[in-house]
Amino acid sequence: MKISILTVFPELYSAFIDTSLIQRAQEKGMIEFDIKPFFDFVKPKERIDAPPFGPGAGMMIRPEVVEKGVESLEKSYGPAFKIFFSPHGQQLDQPLLQHIAQKAQEKGHLMLLPARYEGMDARVEEQYADLIVSVGDFVLMGGDIPAMMVLEGTLRLIPGVVGKEESVKEESFSGPFVDYPGYTEPVTWKGKKVPEILRSGNHAAIAQWRQQEAAYRTVRHHFDWLRSCPLTHQQKEVAKQFIPRHYVALLHHDVLVGPTRSLGTTSVTSIDIHDIARSASTFGIQNFFLATPLQDQQVIVKKLLDFWLHEQGPTYNPNRHEALKSVLVCDYLADAIAHIEQKEGKKPLLIATSAWETDKNKAISYYDQSRIWQENRPVLFIFGTGQGLSPVVLDQSDYILLPVHGFSDFNHLSVRSAVATILDRWMGINERILL
Ligand SMILES: C[S@@+](CC[C@H](N)C(=O)[O-])C[C@H]1O[C@@H](n2cnc3c(N)ncnc32)[C@H](O)[C@@H]1O
Repeated sequence: MKISILTVFPELYSAFIDTSLIQRAQEKGMIEFDIKPFFDFVKPKERIDAPPFGPGAGMMIRPEVVEKGVESLEKSYGPAFKIFFSPHGQQLDQPLLQHIAQKAQEKGHLMLLPARYEGMDARVEEQYADLIVSVGDFVLMGGDIPAMMVLEGTLRLIPGVVGKEESVKEESFSGPFVDYPGYTEPVTWKGKKVPEILRSGNHAAIAQWRQQEAAYRTVRHHFDWLRSCPLTHQQKEVAKQFIPRHYVALLHHDVLVGPTRSLGTTSVTSIDIHDIARSASTFGIQNFFLATPLQDQQVIVKKLLDFWLHEQGPTYNPNRHEALKSVLVCDYLADAIAHIEQKEGKKPLLIATSAWETDKNKAISYYDQSRIWQENRPVLFIFGTGQGLSPVVLDQSDYILLPVHGFSDFNHLSVRSAVATILDRWMGINERILL
């Protein structure tokens, strides 16, 4: 495979391509580099860059220079899979590297075009780029390190470049889990021992231990990756063990009511009971506590539950029966907390929800699962009815989730919709389709 690179600084690549596996791949005749400076495509003393149109600092690489470079390299080595580099490009990850490796092998010519200064005239990307790669949400001085990252990541996927194929197949991000922890000699170092099981010789037990460790690391540190992957039933089950148990409470007491938003109680709503139970079951919630101290309201809920749990409900609609099994009626939030504590042996973390931004010190977002799960405690999400949870409940909570917003000024979600949205954002699977 031919790899051509058009760069302002070709000298950056000399040690990089003359070292280790990349050097060996060249020696084996698997890859061949041609690294050309942009300066080769201008006349002596002519500049490769020019100032941007409109206000703004810095210089940009001129399009004709890129044009001449691309045409010359494609003339020598045939049509290339051409990659440009920019913070606005597609975020580099393992599936994208796999895509690049496949395209590079198909074409037999991979061309990398790292920029410098303020980048390249936008028209060249439009004209030539098969892919624009970003290596992260930050700005570097140039695209050469990103180009080297693409090479490091892509070349190891080309059969024969890395000695042992399996070291490439079974590793972080090649499936839903990151790699398991590895250990080598000595057996004891600074008082820390290599886990006994790894020296047991029991391959099945080692494989199981490794899968557990990999799943634990992934759930706790790469949950967004995990939930973006297609998962088998078995993988879901393994991962689930490391997600602390979650509960939901819907409060009809200690809520704000009426136009003056005064403290009060609200009536139960059958559609909330059904829909929240269905969301709770979908997202693996242990129990949905419906808290109302009003005894006449409890009678209504119990009647509804009796139908679905014990009377015609189970045969009329078994799914609905299944969902409503998670509903527990209680008087107050305190009863739900006590129930969970008794069942789990630990007090739950209380995460309140609100339609408005409240106490900044307690605020958490939908990116904070790892931090919360690190505490190894059950989690109770608290939802309010009426005009929302009272300050008493918010004060009592350990955390308050940021409100759910859309790109509009309307802020009036029903609580059952908020429950569904929040549970999905917090712990829902969000699978993506790979290239
Ligand atoms: C100083 S940067 C230009 C930044 C550009 N003005 C912006 O704000 O997006 C110069 C070049 O470095 C490369 N570069 C910088 N950060 C990058 C990143 N996160 N991913 C990929 N390439 C990057 C690109 O080739 C870019 O054109």
